Amino acid sequence: MAADPHGKAETLARRRRLLSSSCRLFFPEDPIKIVRGQGQYMYDEQGAEYIDCINNVAHVGHCHPLVVQAAHEQNQVLNTNSRYLHDNIMDFAQRLSETLPEKLCVFYFLNSGSEANDLALRLARQYTGHWDVVVLDHAYHGHLSSLIDISPYKFRDLDGQKEWVHVAPLPDTYRGLYREDHPNPAEAYANEVKRVVSSAQEQGRQIAAFFAESLPSVGGQIIPPAGYFPEVAEHIHRAGGVFVADEIQVGFGRVGKHFWAFQLQGEDFVPDIVTMGKSIGNGHPVACVATTQAVARAFEATGVEYFNTFGGNPVSCAVGLAVLDVLEKEQLQAHAACVGSFLMELLRKQKAKHPIIGDIRGVGLFIGVDLIKDETTRMPATEEAEYLISRLKENYILLSTDGPGRNVLKFKPPMCFTLDNVQHVVAKLDAILTDMEERVRSCETLRPGPGAALLRSTGPGCRAAAGN
Ligand SMILES: Cc1ncc(COP(=O)(O)O)c(C=O)c1O
Repeated sequence: MAADPHGKAETLARRRRLLSSSCRLFFPEDPIKIVRGQGQYMYDEQGAEYIDCINNVAHVGHCHPLVVQAAHEQNQVLNTNSRYLHDNIMDFAQRLSETLPEKLCVFYFLNSGSEANDLALRLARQYTGHWDVVVLDHAYHGHLSSLIDISPYKFRDLDGQKEWVHVAPLPDTYRGLYREDHPNPAEAYANEVKRVVSSAQEQGRQIAAFFAESLPSVGGQIIPPAGYFPEVAEHIHRAGGVFVADEIQVGFGRVGKHFWAFQLQGEDFVPDIVTMGKSIGNGHPVACVATTQAVARAFEATGVEYFNTFGGNPVSCAVGLAVLDVLEKEQLQAHAACVGSFLMELLRKQKAKHPIIGDIRGVGLFIGVDLIKDETTRMPATEEAEYLISRLKENYILLSTDGPGRNVLKFKPPMCFTLDNVQHVVAKLDAILTDMEERVRSCETLRPGPGAALLRSTGPGCRAAAGN
């Protein structure tokens, strides 16, 4: 067991005193103190083992020994900025270029996903000479001011939408405008982007970029219909803008079939800019922007240096290279395809058994379970999802929710997640859902939180849920 010099209660008290409450905890009513991580497991101060189903940052597994060793070895030799010649940054850029379409051949290294998206915005504006951005509804692209502005998930609760931001509907074929019964949802959703672009242009606006996560995760683990991105890119290019694919959550083999999630959209589809973060450094702060020669040249033409103190330092690049090595050596992309399809198969069986499960969608180890109140309205089962997450936590399984209705269980575990983990997690999910159904039948109200307590409903017409 790792040393724990401060008890959990003391840590919580110190956190409340020293950190802003804007920095939130998972399970705020009964937070977990994690002191160690290994592979797909995390351990609390008592040594209890939790299965991590959500941490897409610890991509090749928490504290992977080869990644830790690479950082340690490079730390002992040199860590400095990228104004000196060094082979690590060149090797890293070279290895990344081998995973990408040929056109994406110029690289910038940074420290976080937000930095990457902010640079993508600058590149797009410089290249196009335009200012405006089209984004998907409910998207999140980072915490910098520039990115809050293009993140409906955030700006709707803040100052609202800026005049240079234009929001297109999420290509959600389960709950969105065009659903699974539509003959061509890719075209229909792409036409929505075209409509948004035209209406912006009618107001004299000019489009610099379309930003989208290749698989919108914050929007609720959405899988855009194949062919959507190429059609959107046509509309955006016609308007003089560029296509930015945010691969910060979904890149690096997670989708199994491909290394990059945008490749699900067709072999020939190539974004103009790709942003990477999170998994690229397995927990170490690394990020990257890849773009075309044309975009990079326009940025260089300003004559202004791009300098980032830590971006591309030899330690970060050694870590990034080690992550790529592990992905290859342990064949984690193929593993994600295999484990992910097993998880989908077991979850589909759960859907047949539990009416609360409205939709199972996913690819590789990026899977969403959409919980609904009833099949006709598909109304999000928000309280039930919260209750379920809290019961899973009591069973030492860490899962969370996403989507505008906070009702989509999101699976995006470290890529070393196993078939046994799948069986264990789905068995627990089944047991909890069965228990929930029994409780609802006996008119008890579900309440998440410590002990996932039960409230006995007294009034007439008692029904499921109603968390408080
Ligand atoms: C899709 C997406 N883009 C960008 C970011 C920002 O990355 P970071 O938190 O590393 O700045 C996030 C972070 O959650 C994200 O999910």
